[in-house]
Amino acid sequence: MRGRVDEIAIGLLSFLRKSRERSYAIPKLAEKFSTRPRFINQALRGLVVWGYKFEFDNTSKVRFVSAPDSIFPHEIEHYLKTKFIGRNIISHFSVPSTNSLAFSLAEDGAPEGTLVIAEKQTSGRGRLGRRWHSSPKKGLWTSLILKPPFPPAELPGLSIVAATALAETIISKLELDAKVKWPNDCLIDGYKVAGILTEISAELDKANFVIVGTGININHTTKDFPPAFRRRATSLKIETGGRIDRVRFLADFLLEFEKTYIQFKRHGLKPLLPRIKKLSSLLGKQVRLKKGNKTILAKAVDIGVDGALLVRRRKETLRVTAGEVTVV
Ligand code: BTN
Repeated sequence: MRGRVDEIAIGLLSFLRKSRERSYAIPKLAEKFSTRPRFINQALRGLVVWGYKFEFDNTSKVRFVSAPDSIFPHEIEHYLKTKFIGRNIISHFSVPSTNSLAFSLAEDGAPEGTLVIAEKQTSGRGRLGRRWHSSPKKGLWTSLILKPPFPPAELPGLSIVAATALAETIISKLELDAKVKWPNDCLIDGYKVAGILTEISAELDKANFVIVGTGININHTTKDFPPAFRRRATSLKIETGGRIDRVRFLADFLLEFEKTYIQFKRHGLKPLLPRIKKLSSLLGKQVRLKKGNKTILAKAVDIGVDGALLVRRRKETLRVTAGEVTVV
């Protein structure tokens, strides 16, 4: 669909789904949208091609039935309640990596809050140079462009902010016991359900922008993960036992993220620390830290105001700002 018919289709969709119990005659809809019945029919046909379902009764009145499981911008906007996060949406079927695309859009001046999303990534990237497996239409592969007014040293806290907001969304909306494995993994029962990759463009004393890339396993079955990941990964569907509405979940997460991010921008990480510590899967545990070829065994005791993990080894407290941490 193109141009005016596209516009009619989006308006028509929003109108019909708001009153989904009622059927409307095509001429009445044409009158409402100040167009001809033939354009209403064209718009409806286009929506059907996109995967929307409608019911036509024997007098040719039409009623909205259901939406497809797709990440169309207008579908996300239908559920979105944020002020600026996700208010500019770039949605693709396939990209190499949403983080890479978001990075170049940010370099070209895309506004704060821009959401880049794809059904599939062909070279999805994880932390520490790993690949991120992103099966088509199973998960949410997203990147947000953010422009926090902080020096680069304070930005690593953003990964924890995003992971915390995500874990809280999983807990409040799906009643699952989600945890955050410092600094940026979301776990359920020890299995990884989501990962966050934060990338920064900065000068010495000022960040130009930050990309927060989030990969959430949503409707995967165990077989959808590559064999090597099956023992460590899970999805929201596996944990709840039912299919999850991806777009609705995304809108819930973006709202939670926005609220937390606004607080972070105003007051830094400090007021968020009680929430962050409550969700931590590491605090109080013996952990193994890997940095380069060094491995250290220590006890995770706290998270600092800069987001660093504090660990205790013998009588010494160490600040960990990067690397791989696992519970022993
Ligand atoms: C990790 O756990 O190692 C982080 C994984 C981050 C994956 C997401 S998916 C969307 C965005 N685009 C990428 O290429 N990576 C992030």
